[in-house]
Amino acid sequence: MENRNILIGITGSIAAYKICSLVSSLSKQGYNVKVIETKHATAFIPPLTLAALSHHDVYTDEFNGENEALIPHIALTKWADVFCIAPADANILAKAATGIADDLLSSAILACNKPILVAPAMNVHMYENPATQANLNTLRLRGWQVIEPESGVLACQDTGKGRLADLTTIEHAIINLLEQQNSDQDLLANKKVVISAGPTVESLDPVRFLSNHSTGKQGYAIARAAQKMGADVVLVSGPVHLEKPQGVRLIPVVDARQMEEAMKQESGDADFVIMAAAVADFRFKETFDQKMKKENDRDTITFELVKNPDILASLGANKKPGQVLCGFAMETENLDHNARAKLEKKNCDLLVANNLNTEGAGFGTDTNVVSLLLKDSTQHLGMQNKEELGRTILKTMLQLQKGQA
Ligand code: CTP
Repeated sequence: MENRNILIGITGSIAAYKICSLVSSLSKQGYNVKVIETKHATAFIPPLTLAALSHHDVYTDEFNGENEALIPHIALTKWADVFCIAPADANILAKAATGIADDLLSSAILACNKPILVAPAMNVHMYENPATQANLNTLRLRGWQVIEPESGVLACQDTGKGRLADLTTIEHAIINLLEQQNSDQDLLANKKVVISAGPTVESLDPVRFLSNHSTGKQGYAIARAAQKMGADVVLVSGPVHLEKPQGVRLIPVVDARQMEEAMKQESGDADFVIMAAAVADFRFKETFDQKMKKENDRDTITFELVKNPDILASLGANKKPGQVLCGFAMETENLDHNARAKLEKKNCDLLVANNLNTEGAGFGTDTNVVSLLLKDSTQHLGMQNKEELGRTILKTMLQLQKGQA
C-alpha cells in the first residue's frame, strides 16, 4: 500500500463534502492520496481540510504552489496509479469526453494514461440529459470505469438518479482496480497480440453493401485489456464507430479479403491471435463501379454470392509453434455443440461462444455472457463487461501458452 498512489479529482457538486471521509479512510489505510479540486469544489470544501486529511498539498491551480518548476497536471498523473474523479459534475464529463483542458483537473484528465474511475453526482435532469449520457458512454468506451449514481431525493429536492454512489462502493472500486493493476501489469510484456474486430463490409456498388450488426465493442475491449497488460497490440478492424484505443496499432480494413491479408501479415510473429471480427461469409460475385439502376419492369432481383476466405481456419492451419489462437462463435441455438465443432474444424486453442438470445450478450452491448471452450473442457462464465472478459480470455491464452490450462 505504501507505494500505491491515488489521485482524487473533486468538482463543484454538493456531494463534494462526502469525499473528505473517502480521503481520510484511504489515507488511514496507508495509501498515498493527493487531491485536485476545481475552483467550484473549493467553495464546498476548503483545501486545508483535504490537506489535513491526506497529509499532502491540495492542488487547485495550474500555476500555484511554491515549486514553480513542477507542472502539476503532468507530475500528478505520472505519480498516480489510479485517478478517481468524485463527485464528477456534468461539466467535467463533457470536458473529458471532448478533450477540453482549461483548468488543472481537466488538463490532468487529458494527460492521464492511468486507469480512471468516475463517480458522477448531479441533478437527475442533468444526469439523464442525452448529452451527459453520450459523454458517459464515450468515456466508458475509452475504458473509464463509471460508478453509477444512486436514486433518491437529491440535494436540489428533485427525486431520481443523480446521488453520488455510496462511499464504500467508490472505495472498493478504487482498491479493486489497484489490486487488479498490481496483478495484471506486465503480464503480457514482450508479447504480440493481434486482434480482429468489427464487421466486414462487402460492396455491391458505390452505394450498397452486404454486412452484419457487429459493432466491434468486444474486439476493441480485448485490445484495451491487452494494452493495459503490457502487450504490443495490433487491432485489425472493419468499419466501426469506435475510437482507436490508446497505445494500440490500428489497421483499418473494409472487406474479408483485406482482413485476411492484414491478419496473415501481422500474425506471423504474434504470440496470441484473436478473431473477434464478424466476417461476412459471402461477397457478391459481381460488383459494379457505378450505382446499379433498378429496372422498372422487374419486381425481384437475384445476386450470386461467392464464399469469402475463412480467415480463422487458415490461421489455424498455419499456426506458428507456441502461438495461441482464439476464435469466437455466435450462435442462436445448440451453442455448445456448434461451438465445439468450430473449435475443432478451425484448429483453435480456445473458442469464445455466445448465444445471441441471452440477455446481456452479443452485438452492441457493453457486457457479454459466454462459454470458454478449450480442447477438453468448457467453462460457462457469468455476465461480465467486455473488457473484463478480454482480461479473462488473455489470461486463459497465457496459461495455454505456458501449457497450464
Ligand atoms: N470467421 C473467419 N472467417 C470467416 C467466417 C468466420 O475468420 N469467413 C471466424 C470468426 O471471426 C469467428 C469464427 O470464425 O472467430 C466463427 O465465426 P461464426 O460466424 O460464428 O461461424 P462461421 O464459421 O461463419 O459458421 P456459421 O456461419 O455456419 O455459424
